[in-house]
Amino acid sequence: MSHILVIGSANADHVMNFEYLPAPGQTLMSRSYRLEHGGKGANQAVACARLCQADSRVDFICHLGQDSAGNEMRTNWLKDGIKADGITQVANMSTGTAMIFVADNGENSIGIAAGANAHLTPLELDKHYALFANAQFMLIQLETPMDTVSHALQTAKRLGITTVLNPAPAVSSQLDYLKWVDIITPNETEAEALTGIEVNSEEDANLAAQLLHQQGVTTVVITLGSKGAFISSAGFTGLIPALEVQAIDTVAAGDTFNGALVVGLSEGMSIAAAVGFANAASAITVTRDGAQRAIPYRHELPR
Ligand code: ATP
Ligand code: RIB
Repeated sequence: MSHILVIGSANADHVMNFEYLPAPGQTLMSRSYRLEHGGKGANQAVACARLCQADSRVDFICHLGQDSAGNEMRTNWLKDGIKADGITQVANMSTGTAMIFVADNGENSIGIAAGANAHLTPLELDKHYALFANAQFMLIQLETPMDTVSHALQTAKRLGITTVLNPAPAVSSQLDYLKWVDIITPNETEAEALTGIEVNSEEDANLAAQLLHQQGVTTVVITLGSKGAFISSAGFTGLIPALEVQAIDTVAAGDTFNGALVVGLSEGMSIAAAVGFANAASAITVTRDGAQRAIPYRHELPR
């Protein structure tokens, strides 16, 4: 049985579509509005739960508010098979909120109010120490406080858990925590923020990966949108191409990729096979609107 521990954020995503993004000082009427269940941690936990095999266990350590968004998300996650133990609803705080503006050309801008996500401190994380005990993989992102991310990575590493960091959203400072990261999965922007190298080609990706290896990361997987993902690892280095699909909404593509990657690795797939599995899963996500509701179930993927 595989056991995956996801730690991270949950957000109520308020999504508005525009012909183009409003400029500073400009007010635009949106074409449509919808409220989605999102947040990088939650999206990745949902991806793990939907894509793993029936005998696997997925835990998600997160903080929600005691509000309708928090209640609804929790209910849906339990239906997807995420265990309840790590989910905390904090009194007098609201669930994290993301305001997402999407333009017709696919560009977006996102503003986040952390809400209860900011309450997931190292001390709060320690209350869930038992969930680390049997985990083989820990997957974490950068939407919770930085000291919590460092603490989680350090704790997991000490316990022999394989640590996977999706360094999103992009940050360019405080790289100390990389010494506790086994696998890192930046997109092009995040790879540039971490290394200073603008990633426009496989060669650039390889160069950025070498710098991340120098910081102590064993395996680097740089996602390249519709081009796929570049792997730099002991066993395999090269590009695994994406599937050709008609993308309509890429929100949660990266999150699906990360969840699927960890599921694949937890089932003993090679890094190249796990990235192929992750490409297949996220190719489905980009053909659907929304964040968590766009993430596929295992039976939707080719065997
Ligand atoms: P997002 O922030 O939009 O969720 P991201 O920037 O973190 O995503 P990307 O590199 O854009 O990550 O995409 C992650 C993975 O999703 C890619 O490696 C690829 O497998 C898949 N993907 C993204 N866009 C497309 C596309 N247009 N067609 C097919 N697959 C795609
Ligand atoms: O990765 C997509 C997520 O980023 C959205 O669901 C939004 O909440 C932001 O955190």
